[in-house]
Amino acid sequence: MKETYNVAVILGSAREGRFGETVANWAVETLRSDQELSVDLIDPAKLDLPSRHVGAEHPGVAELQTALAEADAFVVVTPEYNHSFTGELKLLIDAAKPQWKRKPLAFVSYGGMSGGLRAVEQLRLVFAELHVVTMRDVISFAHAHDKFDETGRPKDLEGTNAALHHMMTDLKWWAGALREARYPHAKLQLLEAIAS
Ligand SMILES: Cc1cc2nc3c(=O)[nH]c(=O)nc-3n(C[C@H](O)[C@H](O)[C@H](O)COP(=O)(O)O)c2cc1C
Repeated sequence: MKETYNVAVILGSAREGRFGETVANWAVETLRSDQELSVDLIDPAKLDLPSRHVGAEHPGVAELQTALAEADAFVVVTPEYNHSFTGELKLLIDAAKPQWKRKPLAFVSYGGMSGGLRAVEQLRLVFAELHVVTMRDVISFAHAHDKFDETGRPKDLEGTNAALHHMMTDLKWWAGALREARYPHAKLQLLEAIAS
């Protein structure tokens, strides 16, 4: 029996008219074609997190923490704003803590000339503090607006999808290894339940 992994795709922009929605929708659609993955989108524009830190009684914070807790792995879709990541993404990251811990994370980045890679390198430092394991490989779109067609898919669909699936091979390995390490008995119980 193949294992399945819950993956949360996190949109790193809540800007009105954002291009990030196009990139994230493609990522979600492509990842959903993988039978081993169950994929949800976390969208900061829909969560409507408060602009200052409040407790988990806030419905947006509670919803976020539940979605992160249910995930075995994360894919962050990030643009680059002034050589860094967005304030909205930092607000989202900081609104949770144990829900991130000891889980793997991969990046899809986009932007101008740098393809969002400066944001990714800074995010690696932030996630290290939260005990998140970030994947080496990144799917990066430089001059992103020119890389997608009018249907919202990458113009090089075959190559880009293959690169995304390839990156997920590593993410799935880590998702399985860390889930087993976090919950050593869960797998055994599942197998026993199936066998009985
Ligand atoms: C405030 C702001 C700052 C930006 N700074 C950079 C930058 O430093 N480097 C870059 O490559 N693109 C930069 N851009 C371009 C964005 O990466 C590009 O517009 C991208 O589409 C933004 O993501 P979004 O549309 O999903 O919000 C910036 C855009 C904005 C709005």
